[in-house]
Amino acid sequence: MNYKNVIKDILVDLNIGLESEDIYNTIETPPNKEMGDFAFPTFKLAKTLRKAPNMIAQDLAIQIKSDLFTEIKAVGPYINFYLDQDKFNEVVLTEVFKEKDKYGSSDFGQGKTITIDYSSTNIAKPFHIGHIRSTVIGDSLKRILRFLSYDVVAINYLGDYGTQFGVLLSAYKKWGNEEEINADPIKELLKLYVKYTEEAEKNPELMDEARAWFKKLEDKDEEALKVWSWFKEISLKEFNRVYDLLEIDFDSYYGEYYHSQFVDEVVKELEEKKLLVESEGATVIEMGEEEPPAIILKKDGSSTYITRDIATALYRKKHYDFYKNIYVVATQQNLHFRTLKEILGKMGYKWEKDIDHVQFGMVSLKDGTMSTRKGKVVFLEDVLNKAIDKTKDIIEERNPDLENKDQIAKQIGIGAVKFQELFNTRIKDYVFDWDQVLNFEGETGPYVQYAHARANQILERLGLEIDDQVDFSLLKEKQEIDLIKLIYNTPEVILSAKDKLEPSVITRHVTDLAQAFNSFYNNIHILNSQEDVKKARALLVYAVKTNIKNLLDLLGIHAPDKM
Ligand code: ARG
Repeated sequence: MNYKNVIKDILVDLNIGLESEDIYNTIETPPNKEMGDFAFPTFKLAKTLRKAPNMIAQDLAIQIKSDLFTEIKAVGPYINFYLDQDKFNEVVLTEVFKEKDKYGSSDFGQGKTITIDYSSTNIAKPFHIGHIRSTVIGDSLKRILRFLSYDVVAINYLGDYGTQFGVLLSAYKKWGNEEEINADPIKELLKLYVKYTEEAEKNPELMDEARAWFKKLEDKDEEALKVWSWFKEISLKEFNRVYDLLEIDFDSYYGEYYHSQFVDEVVKELEEKKLLVESEGATVIEMGEEEPPAIILKKDGSSTYITRDIATALYRKKHYDFYKNIYVVATQQNLHFRTLKEILGKMGYKWEKDIDHVQFGMVSLKDGTMSTRKGKVVFLEDVLNKAIDKTKDIIEERNPDLENKDQIAKQIGIGAVKFQELFNTRIKDYVFDWDQVLNFEGETGPYVQYAHARANQILERLGLEIDDQVDFSLLKEKQEIDLIKLIYNTPEVILSAKDKLEPSVITRHVTDLAQAFNSFYNNIHILNSQEDVKKARALLVYAVKTNIKNLLDLLGIHAPDKM
């Protein structure tokens, strides 16, 4: 139950001349309890009701009756609502008890399809820590949106096409060794790529050769296609190891290559719509004074990243009839996505407004930015494995008899990495720091997971059958009330994460919940309280445990029962 909604409904019934949404947004939560738990300022009504706000507040307050509140009264121009705490406890905890792992979900998105383009790794290039952000944020958004009943299509738009494949093909033909590549595909391919770009600085003709190889690929030359498919196959095998570790999957792997088959159609349509002009041999779309023209076809007639993205957006609209099409991609590509939307707009597609670039800040290394071209990268797989190993050490030290140690170490280690990624507002740049990823204290994944395991342990020790037939008035300690409020907020927090497309909202909330729970069990004797109090507290602990688990699940993080 949402108290603000209840108040809104009451006020709607009183015909106060405001739209229901307007009423909802006008309801405030005052900073201190004396001013009520909710307040409705009446200033906006003065005009239509032709009365002073103070009078309006008085007139309305006496007409409102609800057993959710102990008191509803006018204070100046405000109508203040004072919660009945016992009733509140009952409403919140009963709801969690009834809904369990569905608590906080809704049918909000029913019938609406959202495509999310995330991870979108590049074939033959390392899956480095720069990609983890897109991968982990995208996965969390997918979970949040599905929880709210949207039909979500998870798309890994593989970077499996483009001039860089010309570089790789040419480099492979010159210096490549099949055996070495098979033994350690990404590292060897990266080496070839780096060597080629270095050589090309001295000898620019190499770039022409690379372009020629890409052209061959576009023309479906047999040899080019064969080597390219092999690169793709061995790269995906590597990536899948990482996706398996992360337990992240996709509904579609249609990437740049797949959509390049529609490029001709797109060019034709752009031509018909008179959007194309020639510029220095290339075919471009003018983007106005401020922005560079968008290159649709290069001098040699080959397509570009933006051309393929136009084709892809059209394909997605046709294929999925999306309500929203979301791209989880770093801020570096801001211009690219702005251009994409503008071009679709110029083509007359009103749905360009349903395209959302969910951007995130850059990841850099302590000693400077990463650069694939220079081979300066941290491999994601190494990060994940290190985090798991470190967790194993800690478990050996603190809890060597734990069952399923390996599985739990994996859940904690991976959870720690994901949690750190999802903790900060996504737009923020951040510096990748080993010590921080592997720090398991404070506002971290393991800390939250531990609160969950602790709740589970308490429930096991209590050994009570959990039900909602308890005396809710017995939960009146500050720590208990704080927890119940946080649990009450969960559904709204999830909606806010959806509105902002921002998983960190959930990460923060679950951290608050874990902290409040810590303070609760450090200060309150649960096991040796009176029978009826114990029963009520057991229900509260159960609600906390259920909530933490649900929220971690929305972040793609496991909540082991023991750790
Ligand atoms: N593969 C690209 C990269 O790693 C990201 C692709 C994002 N998606 C898109 N539709 N452009 O930079």
